[in-house]
Amino acid sequence: MTALTLSTAGAATLRADALVVGVAKSGKELIVAPGAEAVDKAFEGRLAAVLETLGASGAEGEATKLPAPAGLKVPVVLAVGLGGAPADGEAFGTETLRRAAGTAARALFGTKKAAFALPVAEAEAVSAVAEGALLGAYAFTAYQEVGKDAKRPLAEVALLGAKPRDKAHKAAAERAQAVAEEINRARDLINTPPNDLTPAAFAATVQTAGKEHGLKVQVLDEKALAKGGYGGILGVGAGSENPPRLVRVAYTHPKAEKTLALVGKGITYDSGGISLKPAGHNETMKCDMSGAAAVFSTVVAAARLGLEANVTGWLALAENMPSGSATRPGDVLRMYSGKTVEVLNTDAEGRLVLADALTRASEENPDAIVDVATLTGAMMMALGSRTFGIMANDDEFRSTIHEIAEEVGEASWPMPLPADLRKGMDSPTADIANMGERMGGGLVAGLFLQEFVGEGIAWAHLDIAGPAYHEGAPYGYTPKGGTGSSVRTLVRLAERAAEGEL
Ligand code: BES
Ligand code: MN
Ligand code: ZN
Repeated sequence: MTALTLSTAGAATLRADALVVGVAKSGKELIVAPGAEAVDKAFEGRLAAVLETLGASGAEGEATKLPAPAGLKVPVVLAVGLGGAPADGEAFGTETLRRAAGTAARALFGTKKAAFALPVAEAEAVSAVAEGALLGAYAFTAYQEVGKDAKRPLAEVALLGAKPRDKAHKAAAERAQAVAEEINRARDLINTPPNDLTPAAFAATVQTAGKEHGLKVQVLDEKALAKGGYGGILGVGAGSENPPRLVRVAYTHPKAEKTLALVGKGITYDSGGISLKPAGHNETMKCDMSGAAAVFSTVVAAARLGLEANVTGWLALAENMPSGSATRPGDVLRMYSGKTVEVLNTDAEGRLVLADALTRASEENPDAIVDVATLTGAMMMALGSRTFGIMANDDEFRSTIHEIAEEVGEASWPMPLPADLRKGMDSPTADIANMGERMGGGLVAGLFLQEFVGEGIAWAHLDIAGPAYHEGAPYGYTPKGGTGSSVRTLVRLAERAAEGEL
């Protein structure tokens, strides 16, 4: 884990292994961003000129390393691009800063201590730079024996220019650290291979963390699920040697006025089941528990931040495998709600486990329910691989979540639940089928889920199939593999609940 400190030392006096500065474009000119004045001075005011000579343009994502001049107590200066400079009197955008700090942290793998001299006048900038640095300094090396050292992330991040004695700055840094560490917790879970992260192993991890953070954890194993009539979760888990679990993990605050329920899809591996996925579509399906990971991380974050709200997480954990005991296309499942579902495609399994968890979560009558799931390839078709879709039974709630996501720097877009798509799921045998029209498949899945939400409860569904797992080259603070998508949005939503707004 990377340590974070706010330092009052000047950029020219702090000892570190590298010093990070920001550069931006102002018209055709390259300028050094505020916060690095002392560094520029050590370059005799020529830092921008030197960087230009080296080919730097100030573009976002750009990182340029150069040797430090005498007068600085670091061997290396790293300049990261911030894109276009903001208009006079305006600050750099928080997501720009978050990404730049992430780019810097990634460029400094193998370095021990880095000082960040980025523009952090406002508390929200402190928070963004801290988050970006800690998220960028993430590596998943648990399964690598060779070449570990080169991949060692930054051990220490010192933020210069932030004021450790300023209450708002200090709080921003502490919050950023808790949130970033919980996002990294989700990433670790997502990246853990499915032979090790079975439903039972995931549940055990929640129990351990629950003890550490004072959470109440209840685990329903396959026997308890059978006794309770959880036909959806059991049906999906039926083909696997690794039986399913439903985990309830609750954070409560004595002064809480609102209760937020979060439901996560936790398919530890999605082979498709009897409707087996073809090669080329199953290599990354360990990521299919990303929703459950995000929910779990958010509950722990709520506890670490001591929010005055109740946040209950429901993790619907199962492994979707083909075998002689697996659910077949054509089988009918009796769900926890009592409804029956004809399974036409065993690869549409997420909605089955979520349906049971949504009904169960509704029984506690929370003020709102949000489910998070890597639910459909169709949502990736619609929105690409960096944006999650938001569906809801309440327009205002959907807008609120969209606004929150924007505020915390997560790309998302509101999607409709068109009633005409419901008839595609009509089944001649059961109350509903688990598949409908192919067109608008992400919305069809949302409509299916909606039927399992308790009457009168505000509900939203986040389909994170695109952004949950990043297959391309790392960028900004986003690594290859699990991203921790939606945690920042959910934490902010929990904070709003603590403010009485839900
Ligand atoms: N886990 C997948 C969705 C997915 C696809 C997530 C790609 C991340 C990346 C889900 O269980 C699934 O297989 N959905 C099917 C539903 C269809 C059979 C109705 C899909 O999207 O093809
Ligand atoms: Mn599937
Ligand atoms: Zn799935």
